[in-house]
Amino acid sequence: MLSKIAAVALAATLVSAQTHTLCDPTKKDCPNPPALGAKGVNHDFRTGKSDFIHDLAGTYTSYDKDQGALYEIKEEGNAPTTQSGPYIFFGQLDVEVRVAPGAGIVTSVVLQSDDLDEIDWEWVGSDHKQVQTNYFSKGCVTSYDRGGYAAVSDAQERFHIYTIKWTPTQLDWIIDGVVVRTLKNEGLSGCAGYPQSPMQVKLGSWIAGNPKASPGTIEWAGGLADMKKGPFVAAYRSINVTDFMGGQGAKDATEYVYTDRSGTWQSIKVVNDGKTQSGGNSSGNSTTTKPTGAKTTLTTLVPTNPPTADTTDAPSSGATGGAGAGSGTTTGAGSVPTGAAGKVSLNLLAMGAAAFLGYLVL
Ligand SMILES: *[C@@H]1O[C@H](CO)[C@@H](O)[C@H](O)[C@H]1NC(C)=O
Ligand SMILES: *[C@@H]1O[C@H](CO)[C@@H](O)[C@H](O)[C@H]1NC(C)=O
Ligand SMILES: *[C@@H]1O[C@H](CO)[C@@H](O)[C@H](O)[C@H]1NC(C)=O
Repeated sequence: MLSKIAAVALAATLVSAQTHTLCDPTKKDCPNPPALGAKGVNHDFRTGKSDFIHDLAGTYTSYDKDQGALYEIKEEGNAPTTQSGPYIFFGQLDVEVRVAPGAGIVTSVVLQSDDLDEIDWEWVGSDHKQVQTNYFSKGCVTSYDRGGYAAVSDAQERFHIYTIKWTPTQLDWIIDGVVVRTLKNEGLSGCAGYPQSPMQVKLGSWIAGNPKASPGTIEWAGGLADMKKGPFVAAYRSINVTDFMGGQGAKDATEYVYTDRSGTWQSIKVVNDGKTQSGGNSSGNSTTTKPTGAKTTLTTLVPTNPPTADTTDAPSSGATGGAGAGSGTTTGAGSVPTGAAGKVSLNLLAMGAAAFLGYLVL
């Protein structure tokens, strides 16, 4: 819930943010993203680490034979975050997780591309009833109308399987096999464009409610984290990943290549052992395969101002979506709240994801 003071502070500023990646293929030539390809991933963290993901520098995770990978926040500055080496170009990500409790603490499951397309699950530790779903296109954060909520009452007590199923035509967020939100790739454009470039998997737990964060981020996170109540632990038990390799019948992929600056899925080709195959679009052969170089794709996202707010109320429960198959262009049952009150909440929701990306590089 937004306090009056925070709302006044928010209302006084305009929405603005800058996004940046180390190499954005819509702006210049970049190393080809390595593909997960046909081998996929089926990993139970109760057996230990996975080759698929690694801890980001300065962060670490531990492993427990009953609970799996533990992402622990014990003190200010902790932000256990893991990232995959390989990318998927459409695909399915299943993560079995029990999220971290605590005001100010956020657990995130993110798919993100080099040109900043993004698909998210995010749990705020003070919100016991729902998970947030969101997506971004080419790093655009100038509008805040893409977030959604889905009901999941006991996410901090029990493991659930959260799935993102992403094809060229449709994106589904699924909890324990039930679709809670659907985004169809129809009539989407601009800031609300469809996420469509090869993505890495990023799993993390972080302190959104920290004194250095903007008032908007702190409010979104349910207030400042109280470290005395920690440690705050998210447990990831298993992860399964399937790479759809362009969604056009490629048999295997070793890497992906952006053939122009558009960042559209049709322009991105599937490469297998140096040979370009079908992938996004098999007609034409403009592809030049560039060698894969060592790469880091940490994203820097620097919010320059908190989001605009035009009311003092944010919804606390009105935005809860139920289970059930979603339909329609933007959301299904896990629907986006509407009206003025909803707007604030969505601004904050978008801020949250932006803040996570910024937090990764602190
Ligand atoms: C991954 O697949 C295995 C084997 O089918 C299954 O036991 C496990 O629950 C799955 N995990 C997720 C996160 O879907
Ligand atoms: C594939 O590329 C060709 C030539 O660039 C274009 O005409 C066609 O529409 C594309 N097909 C798809 C499915 O995007
Ligand atoms: C594809 O490459 C072949 C051989 O280099 C060439 O003959 C053909 O015209 C090219 N096709 C297109 C559509 O560019």
